Amino acid sequence: MKRLALITTILMAATGLAAQAQESAGQKEFMIACAVCHGESGMGNGPFTSLMNVPVPNLTTLSAQNEGNFPFLKVFMTIDGRAMGAGHGGPMPVWGDRFTANAGDQYGPYGAELITRGRILALVNYLETIQQ
Ligand code: HEC
Repeated sequence: MKRLALITTILMAATGLAAQAQESAGQKEFMIACAVCHGESGMGNGPFTSLMNVPVPNLTTLSAQNEGNFPFLKVFMTIDGRAMGAGHGGPMPVWGDRFTANAGDQYGPYGAELITRGRILALVNYLETIQQ
């Protein structure tokens, strides 16, 4: 019994290390750009929530709210924000504009668009992994 517990502990530690080593680009981006509002766990409880007059959504229940299917395209479009139409105007930053501006013009407009979509895709993929 003791031995089993020891093996389990070692296995769990090893899995934890592997998970840490594999921290994805999307997860890093999330911690830098999103966690202030949505919380490090994505549950909508970041430190900025107290400063906002609208609730910040829990991002770990997007699948649960969509009959168990992760709403990939909707999440992508929401984060991008550029296609949301005038007047959407919530406090959620328009990341599509920000990422494009950050990409600069060294790769031309098409390159900036590719970088933008890659960053958003990494975020969407990360969000899919934290669904409950
Ligand atoms: C300044 C606070 C703030 C930051 C920073 C922020 N969000 Fe949001 N987010 C919100 C608020 C408030 C809403 C809901 C109202 C709205 O859409 O504006 C929202 C909505 C969302 C939704 C839609 C959720 C649903 O239930 O449909 C997604 C997905 C999302 N955010 C992802 C992100 C990602 C990814 C980042 C980082 C790149 C991010 N948010 C950064 C405040 C923020």
